[in-house]
Amino acid sequence: MKLGSALTNSATKAMLLGCGELGKEIAICLQRYGIEVIGVDRYHNAPAQQIAHRSHVINMTNADELKKIIALEQPDIIIPEIEAIATDALLEVELEGLARVIPNARAIQLTMNRVGIRTLVAEDLQIPTSKYAFADNFEQLKTAVENGIGYPCFVKPTMSSSGKGQTMVKSVDQLEDAWNYAKVSGRVDTGKVIVEAKVDFDFEITLLTVRALDGEGNIQTHFCEPIGHIQEQGDYRESWQPQAMSVLALKSAQEIASKVTSALGGVGLFGVELFVKGDNVWFCEVSPRPHDTGMVTMATQKQSEFELHVRAILGLPVTTDLQKFGASAVILANIEASDFFYTGLDEALTVTDSEVRLFGKPEALVKRRMGVALASAETVHEARNRAVKAANAINIQSE
Ligand SMILES: Nc1ncnc2c1ncn2[C@@H]1O[C@H](COP(=O)(O)OP(=O)(O)OP(=O)(O)O)[C@@H](O)[C@H]1O
Ligand SMILES: [Mg+2]
Repeated sequence: MKLGSALTNSATKAMLLGCGELGKEIAICLQRYGIEVIGVDRYHNAPAQQIAHRSHVINMTNADELKKIIALEQPDIIIPEIEAIATDALLEVELEGLARVIPNARAIQLTMNRVGIRTLVAEDLQIPTSKYAFADNFEQLKTAVENGIGYPCFVKPTMSSSGKGQTMVKSVDQLEDAWNYAKVSGRVDTGKVIVEAKVDFDFEITLLTVRALDGEGNIQTHFCEPIGHIQEQGDYRESWQPQAMSVLALKSAQEIASKVTSALGGVGLFGVELFVKGDNVWFCEVSPRPHDTGMVTMATQKQSEFELHVRAILGLPVTTDLQKFGASAVILANIEASDFFYTGLDEALTVTDSEVRLFGKPEALVKRRMGVALASAETVHEARNRAVKAANAINIQSE
């Protein structure tokens, strides 16, 4: 494997599409190998842009703007960090051999829309998921729920993330509000929603799965220890690793993750979201990139999910070994401000074996994730206590 050096004619150039907190950690890992990093986002000074060699602000859902910036920068590797991207442009770029898209343009396209990934997983691969239906209008939605999905159910836009536009519906009188909310809150109005029966799970996990080359140039699949997490309104609040689960459930989880990621193909790290009850496992969704709940791996693994992603991309050896039990807890803003301070970092770091990442976002918004506290301990229980304590010590205030 040959790597150029950043800012020379031979530089190996990676373009990050999306420069949030996950992209920032990817950028740091790329920088350590002397890769030239180009950060692209929809606003100035996004976290990973502060680490990149250069950055650009464009509307990434506009195919022309995206192709223009790719033509200008001529990256070797394109690493999508978010879902809201004009994936047609990525397909073209890949087809013309202009750059490698991670893991590949088809996987990016399939996973950005719940129709694509759900159809692939439930119908083609025959993997268990919640009962679901797609609806193009309110009548169809109502019929689908009445004819089998039942209550409670989740109504979601087909293109959205972080729980946006999603409602858990308990009875028929809440259904129309859920339909309207999904229609206006999706990233784009696809004219379609998905409705899913509620899976009555014991816990949910993210199974970080890495597809990386071995010494012979063949792709091998590696699994991290399962990560347990708590979601509120579809957005993650706490995660921990490992999540204890039965041997059978872990085996099913790995089989599902292996099937889904090999159907998507390419190299890189994937976050496979699964629901678990006893020995049973259901697929929820998958990110073809590092996962927010996987930030815990910065405290637990020898190679974090970001390092694993970068190594897999560069064709380097990987290890998913767990070194410590750990947890993460998010630091959310509760004000809207562009001039603000973090306080309490000193107190947070008095918590034993804790670490804090502040993302450097230029603007605070209510419920916006501004940082994360990480902690390790002898037990997951204690690690969770520590992470929450450290996160709670930090305040975001405007004066
Ligand atoms: N069918 C379901 N049964 C039970 N819980 C569900 C179901 N669908 C969603 N949830 C809950 O809502 C959370 C978010 O759902 P999902 O992952 O589909 O949406 P999302 O908007 O992509 O969220 P994110 O981007 O944060 O992963 C899940 O992690 C789970 O806690
Ligand atoms: Mg999810």
